[in-house]
Amino acid sequence: MPFIPPRIAPPTRQLSLLETLRAARRNVLEIIPGLSYVQPMVSGRLGSRWHMVQDPGALRRIFLDNAANYPKSEVMLRMLRPAVGDSLFTSEGDAWRWQRRTVAPVFAPRNVAALAPVMTATAERTAQRLARSAARPGMVTEMVSEMFTATFEVICDVALSGREHFDAKLYGQAIIRYMATVGRASVLDFLQVPNWMPRPGAVLGRGSVRTMHAMVARAIEERRRSVSVRGAGGATRATDDLLDHMLKAEDAETGRRMTPEELLHNMQFFIVGGHETTALTLSWALLLLAGDPEVQEQARAEARAALGDAPAGAEHIALTPHVGRVIEETMRLYPPVGLLARNVLRPDLLAGRRIMPKDTLFLPIFALHRHRMWWDDPDTFDPGNFAPEKVAARDRYVYLPFGAGPRVCVGANFAMMQAHIILATLLARFRFAPGDGPPPVPTMSMTVRPEGGVRLSVTPL
Ligand code: HEM
Repeated sequence: MPFIPPRIAPPTRQLSLLETLRAARRNVLEIIPGLSYVQPMVSGRLGSRWHMVQDPGALRRIFLDNAANYPKSEVMLRMLRPAVGDSLFTSEGDAWRWQRRTVAPVFAPRNVAALAPVMTATAERTAQRLARSAARPGMVTEMVSEMFTATFEVICDVALSGREHFDAKLYGQAIIRYMATVGRASVLDFLQVPNWMPRPGAVLGRGSVRTMHAMVARAIEERRRSVSVRGAGGATRATDDLLDHMLKAEDAETGRRMTPEELLHNMQFFIVGGHETTALTLSWALLLLAGDPEVQEQARAEARAALGDAPAGAEHIALTPHVGRVIEETMRLYPPVGLLARNVLRPDLLAGRRIMPKDTLFLPIFALHRHRMWWDDPDTFDPGNFAPEKVAARDRYVYLPFGAGPRVCVGANFAMMQAHIILATLLARFRFAPGDGPPPVPTMSMTVRPEGGVRLSVTPL
């Protein structure tokens, strides 16, 4: 029987305001109507007018050609601001522009490639951990927590001077508390109640924000101190990491540098936003591969031929294109950022429809990637969708896991390299098969998670 990856049943009628609010709190993917998977654009009214946009031409206009007309919607920003202030992800206009000019060079391919050894070391440690748990017969391993540990290690090592003077467990708990409180859409947000009215989740999440900020601030301080010691003749590190680059970063146009608070907020976003999305991609990839032994075998053969017994490094990425296609196809079926929202400043025309100021645009990446008009067999796992000739023949705007245009994900290179290095290493060492329990349900609050976890049986080769 062909393997059908877990999916959700979208609503087949328009939901009332109350139903939408309940669904958004339970699983944001449930507010995407069934029509969004078959039509280019769906509109409705919930207080104000909303449009779900799945048309590639319209998406190009929103992300690129008329991007200034479509700032990010407050609903999403409100969930992030308590933790990351007005940092690159959450700012608009001039505040965004100078931060983008300053941060983009930090993620230049050369700088990201220099971080590959940290990712390789983590891949090796993850494989060793898995080998220990797989050694017990009949064991099923929960892969989401394994992948969170792996990507969190990477980001701590490259953004916070390592984990020695940083309590990763405490920080991890603070993130979970944050997601369960501030990170949930509040009824007040959807009703467009003004910002000054405190949200219950935001109040409950204050302690977790304080914990995270204090820890990141301390790590930055340690680094500043060690840089000044190094400057006075102390030992130097072989290559700069993310924090070194950020400490030195300055706007090429104005020479402006980040204040300690701006630095703190941006580093905080890299840590929270950067590790979770990649961990989820890896978890879904392993679930998909466990369900499709043939594709798994093909990716493994390629990884083993390239790596032998060594963990993967940057030099193996070009040698394992099939592993890369598995990652891309995973993000098609389970885009970590499954839905974006934008406001409208001035009237515009999208896919032939009149859009007015105060309308809300939803960009349901999850539905775009499974759209009946743009994809053959949209619910089937097929890494062949990312063969170079297929990619070249497709509109770029039907596949947007990292967004597009001026606000495209600044960490996409970093995320892809990290996912590739970890997945190739694990495939070369283990065979993955479905474990116990029902398949997980894709569930989104800020990101698309496998609800119930990814439980797999892991066999060392
Ligand atoms: C698989 C992993 C990732 C996915 C799927 C992802 C997805 C996205 C998406 C969709 C956006 C655009 C949001 C919008 O237009 O509203 C974005 C922006 C951003 N991402 Fe990522 N991301 C990932 C990993 C990372 C990593 C590793 C970092 C940094 C370490 C990062 C940092 C950022 C930043 C700073 C922005 C804001 C850019 C701007 O507004 O100029 N992301 N990401």
